[in-house]
Amino acid sequence: MNKWIKTNPVVDTFFDNHQEIWPLVLASLERRNNKDAIAPLKDPVWNERYFGLENVSIFKEASESTKRDVLWKTTLSILAEASFIEQLGLTFNAKMILLADNLEERMLYSLFAADEAQHLFWVSSHMPDPGSQDTQKPFFRLLSSIIEDGSKASLTCLIQVLLEGWGINHYLSIAQDCQNDRLKTYLQKILKDESLHHGSGLMLWNQLSLNAQEEEFTIEMLARLFEMVQTGPQMIVTNIEQSFGHLSFSQKATVFEELKCEEQSNNRIALLKSLLVQNHPNKLLSKLDERGIFRAYSAAECARYHV
Ligand SMILES: [Fe+2]
Ligand SMILES: [Fe+2]
Repeated sequence: MNKWIKTNPVVDTFFDNHQEIWPLVLASLERRNNKDAIAPLKDPVWNERYFGLENVSIFKEASESTKRDVLWKTTLSILAEASFIEQLGLTFNAKMILLADNLEERMLYSLFAADEAQHLFWVSSHMPDPGSQDTQKPFFRLLSSIIEDGSKASLTCLIQVLLEGWGINHYLSIAQDCQNDRLKTYLQKILKDESLHHGSGLMLWNQLSLNAQEEEFTIEMLARLFEMVQTGPQMIVTNIEQSFGHLSFSQKATVFEELKCEEQSNNRIALLKSLLVQNHPNKLLSKLDERGIFRAYSAAECARYHV
């Protein structure tokens, strides 16, 4: 492990703080012809069908303003997640620049880092309050610790092959259903860049392998990542609860059931597994299979997991 690099994955929020630096960032983006004026969103940009909410009884029976509140919160959650992932993408590339074995690799990761800075600007400029993110969410903490502790080979495998591969699918999906044309265009641009990042990751991964210690780390992190996918659409249920007030265990289980949580998780697990199957030895997959992580949780299990 490359413990000597203190990566500091999550740094202070931006826009409001460090006001003397922000104009320099904008000037630099302008030099690249990429500093469009982007107005923050005011309305939800994904509808209930996109989240499967049209089958959720409590949502269907709600007033129009409560429905809007859930969709708005969910829009903000998706943007916050994307913005956080872009921030971590920056940190990942910064670490890979330092770990590069040759100048070509170093140049490649430097250019990717600039892409991620651009993505971060595009995504966060659509957020009404980009500094308000909760960086302590389990998914964010897990990604931070992967970048902090991962070696070059583990990071290539976990971030570039798996997560950027998953990211392509995610950006494609949110871009397709996005009802704001401007944001849709930016999401499509990000999608193109992420395809290049992932494709390069596949090429670089072919030249690498995991030693025993790296394999152990990678399996542990994969198990924790898959567990989050197994537990279904937790973020949507959190947003429903925030709009409706406290939900009992059985109400939550019903919402997860109506969101077709098992079907949703199974689709995501199949996608992630296919990225692993294409690029990893069977040994690694069977070790993961032994841990039971390729199984979607039932609605009751998802509700139990929800805090
Ligand atoms: Fe990105
Ligand atoms: Fe990327």
